[in-house]
Amino acid sequence: MCDAVKAIAGDRIVVDCGAGRGLFASMYDGKVLSIDIHQPDEPLSFIIEKNAEHYCFPRNSIPIFIRPCHSNFVHNTILKNRNKFDKAIYVSLPKNLDGDLDDRFYKITQYSEWEGEEGERIYLVELNKPKESFSYLPGKIIHFADPMLSYLVETQEQEFKESVESPLEDRGILIDGLRLTLTDMYPRGEKYDYLFFDYGGMSIGNSLMESLCREIVKDADMFPNRTYIVVSTFTSYAMKDAKEDFGKDLPNVFLSIGDFVTFYKRLNQLA
Ligand SMILES: C[S@@+](CC[C@H](N)C(=O)[O-])C[C@H]1O[C@@H](n2cnc3c(N)ncnc32)[C@H](O)[C@@H]1O
Repeated sequence: MCDAVKAIAGDRIVVDCGAGRGLFASMYDGKVLSIDIHQPDEPLSFIIEKNAEHYCFPRNSIPIFIRPCHSNFVHNTILKNRNKFDKAIYVSLPKNLDGDLDDRFYKITQYSEWEGEEGERIYLVELNKPKESFSYLPGKIIHFADPMLSYLVETQEQEFKESVESPLEDRGILIDGLRLTLTDMYPRGEKYDYLFFDYGGMSIGNSLMESLCREIVKDADMFPNRTYIVVSTFTSYAMKDAKEDFGKDLPNVFLSIGDFVTFYKRLNQLA
């Protein structure tokens, strides 16, 4: 199976989604990452504990689903990342195809004659190239958000996906998961290029949010090559006050993703 995967993936980073104990990564001779929603008791290789549906996939990656659970996560993961992938790999019994995948959204073909011990087959899932042109945000990216997540959001990955990654993607900009750090601690002393800041609506009037806004405007003045983008409406009110109190023009602080993207596209002469 590994040879067939290598032939499809080539130089891409294979992301084993629902990796279980990480058996595939322990055998595969190529770039590979394993993610699973649960950390296994006895891992065979390193497992990143994440829900594949909310994971920020690296640039130039290809997902593989090997004998996945049947809960829509395969189809959802592929569709939510359709602008990042041109292909995906699915390994399972032929009878599971209809439940896990949906051929109205991509082309599914059996790849090679390989057959697993229980009759599993390898399928190649091919997606249409996105119509719009996308570009990746360069440099190191930090998402700094308070631990009180938004309503109906369960993890910081999900918060990032909904409040930053998807709105950027809607505007033609993709994020490379390997350049991204998610944190609920202000990244003092760290080097980065973009800081997305979200202290949530629950914290209005919260002096911590206000003091963080003051710290950010000072840092923005000290590090003019860094870009600071506020992604929650309530945080943007506090940041607007902090900017006004600071009194200096800070062209690298943006109060919304929309403002940032307009500036970014003009700077990079993107449509
Ligand atoms: C049947 S096991 C297969 C494990 C491994 N691929 C193998 O072939 O041995 C399915 C795995 O998918 C994981 N899983 C289910 N939903 C997931 C999701 N949304 N994101 C990541 N992993 C998930 C489960 O925790 C489980 O480890």
